[in-house]
Amino acid sequence: MAREARFGTIGGEDLYRRLATGEPFVLLDVRAPEEFEKGHIPGSILIPLQEIDARWTEVPRGDFPLAVVCEYGVRSASACRFLAERDVPGLFNLEGGIEAWPGPVAQGIEGNGRSAGRLSPEPFLVESFHLLPMGLALDIAMGEGRNAIYLASRGFDVDGVDSDPSAVKRARSAARRLGAPIRAVVGNVEDGTHIIPVDAYDVISVFDYVHRPLFTDIREGLKAGGVVVFQAPLQGTSGAASPADPARLLAPGELKRVFDDWEILRLREEVEPSPNLSSSRLVAGIVARKPAA
Ligand SMILES: C[S@@+](CC[C@H](N)C(=O)[O-])C[C@H]1O[C@@H](n2cnc3c(N)ncnc32)[C@H](O)[C@@H]1O
Repeated sequence: MAREARFGTIGGEDLYRRLATGEPFVLLDVRAPEEFEKGHIPGSILIPLQEIDARWTEVPRGDFPLAVVCEYGVRSASACRFLAERDVPGLFNLEGGIEAWPGPVAQGIEGNGRSAGRLSPEPFLVESFHLLPMGLALDIAMGEGRNAIYLASRGFDVDGVDSDPSAVKRARSAARRLGAPIRAVVGNVEDGTHIIPVDAYDVISVFDYVHRPLFTDIREGLKAGGVVVFQAPLQGTSGAASPADPARLLAPGELKRVFDDWEILRLREEVEPSPNLSSSRLVAGIVARKPAA
């Protein structure tokens, strides 16, 4: 990254790699709403350049760097200059704009500002990484592989399974592009066609997917001393963050009950604010270690 006078520049490959390997960035897209709607980096917030003068106080000013995005990197450079003059810290212009972005894009205005979704690993996993015993990991219902890829990029040997063939295909190609190899397979963990082997894994992770019979598979699938990382929406979550089937929401205290006889390393049940918007959801998460045999 070359540093300009008051803001930095960042290339598309570099930004993609940093997001995929767990570096938190806020993404600000300064194009027109019609351009944003056609395709934007997942998790971006939209403030068109023409509105930035009136709305710049909406730009998140936290501990995270801010990558500013437009089509080719010209309007975003103007936005960076404007924000730098107002002492907004940690600014980076995406060089070459979205045209130089190699990762997935999201369509529509809906979901604008929600976390970098398909792109970045779940913060709960990143924050729990130091608790995980290195070795063989399984990410169940891995979707497009953001958490599996993160684990692989940090040295884990990773199996990932999901029932959606197109998600698995995207996970494979993202993993290849990022040089973080995962064994990604299409499999259904509910109908008995994909079996989780017993005493096989050092780590099993599950994010945003609840199928209660899997709790037994997770308990059996981990080796002695292995660690589960599980996080999903909690009853009370509503709107876009809620699964269509309310049975897919965790009950308060449920994760603690399921892993009560294990060493609980982390437990959370709380409202999770979106990093970029005022929306929030209720989540429950646990990191628990299976007792030594
Ligand atoms: C909300 S997504 C979460 C994806 C991923 N864990 C993440 O956090 O990015 C839920 C995932 O569960 C997968 N899924 C649903 N039913 C499944 C099943 N029976 N077996 C395997 N995967 C399943 C879906 O295809 C989808 O990718």
